[in-house]
Amino acid sequence: MNFNSGMLREDALKDKNILITGGGTGLGRSMGEYFLELGANLVITSRKLDVLEGTANEMMSQKGGKVIPLACDVRDIAQVEDMWSQATSQLGKVDVVLNNAAGNFISPTERLSTNAFNTVLDIVLKGTSQVTLTAGKDWIAKKQAGVFLNIVTTYAWTGSGYVVPSAAAKAGVLAMTRSLAVEWAKYGIRSNAIAPGPFPTEGAWSRLLPGDLVKKFDPAKKVPVGRVGEHQELANLAAYLVSDFSAYVNGEVITIDGGEWLKGAGEFNNLDQIPQELWDMMEASRGKKQ
Ligand code: HXC
Ligand code: NAP
Repeated sequence: MNFNSGMLREDALKDKNILITGGGTGLGRSMGEYFLELGANLVITSRKLDVLEGTANEMMSQKGGKVIPLACDVRDIAQVEDMWSQATSQLGKVDVVLNNAAGNFISPTERLSTNAFNTVLDIVLKGTSQVTLTAGKDWIAKKQAGVFLNIVTTYAWTGSGYVVPSAAAKAGVLAMTRSLAVEWAKYGIRSNAIAPGPFPTEGAWSRLLPGDLVKKFDPAKKVPVGRVGEHQELANLAAYLVSDFSAYVNGEVITIDGGEWLKGAGEFNNLDQIPQELWDMMEASRGKKQ
């Protein structure tokens, strides 16, 4: 089966202006590339302007369209407001905000410094809330409709050891998504989230599975469908959620993880380690007793 085909029709995002935080690398870049294919214009933003400029040039030469790179550290409200004002003045307006920027690393929690904990909270929760508030206030003042799509994780609701600042921050982003979906619907602003399972990216893999850990903890082995995700699969879902086709979807978090988190949650799911022969023996011995 081919998991790398685009799903929506070619003009599905025609003339939509979409701002992607963390849009220069990884999943943000992959989602942006598909949005461009579907007719959108993009602003991609993160801290590293050189990375953003390289990505923007490659995207425009491969996919066409307009991609504006703007440097912004989402932890700094002055930079966020300046970035938003540049984005809206260069594109006329922004229709969609994809809150995708994140920071993360693995560590026993008791080994974290206060600054380490706060750094992840600040990027993920404070960064997302600052971009959201800046965009939302502007949309409301201008009586303009808008769409937020926030990238969270499945441990936003299960929690997870060893990535506690990220889990706490993503849980906050999920709560904000659901809260604003209700509060701001009256202004024509929708809010949804996607919770991806493992999708290989340099940024996530280098920090969450450094060195040999990737061999010891092969993420595909935890996924019932037996593989990690393809970026296009996530891009298809994201494109739907930012398009007008999903106009009646609001306040939802959609998991795209091949069943990974449920596998960890279900009491008896590890019984898939029992070989068929043992099931045969158990069935046979049950038969004898009857
Ligand atoms: C413990 C660490 C650490 C680590 C940094 N720190 N890395 N502590 N273990 N591995 C501490 C530092 O010592 C410092 O504390 C504080 O954190 C801030 O570090 P800086 O390097 O000064 O921060 P900064 O330059 O702002 O970089 C932020 C970062 C970095 C989060 C530390 O990794 C980054 O830029 N990340 C962006 C991209 C990213 O993380 N992508 C992955 C997203 S994946 P002290 O006390 O020494 O000052 C993801 C997937 C989720 O979210 C789900 C997967 C299935
Ligand atoms: P990534 O490539 O490292 O993406 C993170 C992006 O955030 C980078 O482009 C980074 O760019 C930007 N960023 C970090 N700190 C920032 C800051 N202070 N201000 C502005 N931008 C900042 O990793 P990824 O795997 O694509 O992750 C993308 C999203 O998917 C994240 O929200 C992550 O939590 C989520 N996710 C990923 C997976 C996975 O398996 N990959 C699973 C679940 C959820 P700069 O360094 O230039 O700032």
